[in-house]
Parts: sequence; structure tokens; C-alpha cells
Amino acid sequence: MRDKPSEHRGGEPVNQGRRRFCQLTIGGMAVASAATVSYPVISFLKLPKSLQQEEPVEVPLADLAEDAATWVEHLGQQIAIIRVDGGAMAFNGACPHLGCIVQWDGPARAFKCPCHGAVFNDKGEPVAGPVNAPLRKVQVEIKDGVLRIM
Ligand code: FES
Repeated sequence: MRDKPSEHRGGEPVNQGRRRFCQLTIGGMAVASAATVSYPVISFLKLPKSLQQEEPVEVPLADLAEDAATWVEHLGQQIAIIRVDGGAMAFNGACPHLGCIVQWDGPARAFKCPCHGAVFNDKGEPVAGPVNAPLRKVQVEIKDGVLRIM
């Protein structure tokens, strides 16, 4: 009759403590290897914070100056809010030419791009420079004197 392999090897009893230690060590290395590989993969697949759901941005209309733009960041975008005809409008600050962030010239009531000279009026329409597309408008809700960007 043959002995069980777990009890004897080559006629000598197997040290159960050593076997258990080897099993735990190999198991621990397997878990560590899996974590080392999966962490960067999961981090890569996770949405960047800028694309995750953010709280709406709220700006009281009373805080908006007549001739200055108020800049806020929402969903990773630089957004310019300006007063227009007693209300307010918001634009994505990225120039539609090559993406530079435009600057607001209050006295001229125009957005100017520092990169290649594009100029947009206070409705976001292009009026000069190497661009034909307007600034992208950002949907806003104005209620009870507060502008909200969702
Ligand atoms: S990036 Fe604005 S004009 Fe070129």
C-alpha cells in the first residue's frame, strides 16, 4: 500500500509547516503580482476627474462685473462668463482655431486670442483672425439672480 503524497516523500514525512509556508508565500506573490498589474490598468480605465460628474457652478449675477469676464473651471474647461444685455453668457475659453485660451478685452467687448490673433465679439462670433468658427457657448440657467452652469 502506498502512502499519501502529502504525508511522505521518498519515504520521509513531509514537513507540513514548510509546505504551508510555501503555499502562503506563493499565494502572497500571486496576489501582489495581480495587484501590480491590475492597479495601473484600473487607473487607466477610470474616468479622469475632469470628466466625472461635477457639481454645477453657480455665480450670482451681482458678482459679475460689467466689463470684466469671470472665469470658472467646469468639467476641465475654462469658461468665461460675461455680462451681455443685462443678462450673462458663458463661453468655452478654448479658441476654435488651435485651442489657446482667449482673453476678454472689456473696453473692446471682444475675446482676443493671444496665439494667432483671432478676435470674437461678445456673442462669441469671429470677427478677425484665422478662424471662421465661433467660440462654443456654454448652456447656462439663470434663476433668482444666480447663473448656473450644469
Ligand atoms: S489658437 Fe486662437 S487664433 Fe490660433
